[in-house]
Amino acid sequence: MEGLPGRLQLPVRAAKTLSLDTQPMLPYNPRMDLDTNLRVLLNEQINHEMSSSYVYLAMSSWFEETPYSGFAQWMYTQSLEETDHAMKFYHFLVDRNAQVNLMAIGQPHAEYASALDVFKASLEQEQKVTSQIHNLYSAAEEARDHETKNFLNWFLDEQVEEEKNVRDMIDRLDLIGENPVGLLQLDQEAARRKPISGGGDAGMA
Ligand SMILES: [Fe+2]
Ligand SMILES: [Fe+2]
Repeated sequence: MEGLPGRLQLPVRAAKTLSLDTQPMLPYNPRMDLDTNLRVLLNEQINHEMSSSYVYLAMSSWFEETPYSGFAQWMYTQSLEETDHAMKFYHFLVDRNAQVNLMAIGQPHAEYASALDVFKASLEQEQKVTSQIHNLYSAAEEARDHETKNFLNWFLDEQVEEEKNVRDMIDRLDLIGENPVGLLQLDQEAARRKPISGGGDAGMA
């Protein structure tokens, strides 16, 4: 059988190459670049923003039962804006090649005593979200994740703006009290709130 090339009779260099190629590889996790705690918090924030959207939709539907269609419109626009925030977190996770975990959204509170009561609840909602964004930013700092910090900067500015908008409404509702003329005037102003073009966001006109 002399001269028959055996399949194992490989040149030394080829054998070395083959040996290297067959080394067991370390498990490659393409999602390891985003800190685990940060990924969990970013996923939770999708849920928080969607829950906010649901809260504002419930507020809008409460106003729909009253003569104040402008406040209903204001809250509806706010609900759309919160959904847009959730989508920003969703796309950031996808762009970072991180796993998305969608969670259940709880039933929102739907019973209110007055327009002022609704806006006070809205301020509490925004303050809660501001605290969540702060926690996220701290986690991003801890993980030295500069891209996430940069991403969150937009939300820090947004929370300042949203809390201001709601506080302005509360101040004016406090001043108006139960005066129906004043309430209807503010309601008409609230109706002029339009989504900001370009980002799908909304603010007072
Ligand atoms: Fe939000
Ligand atoms: Fe908000």
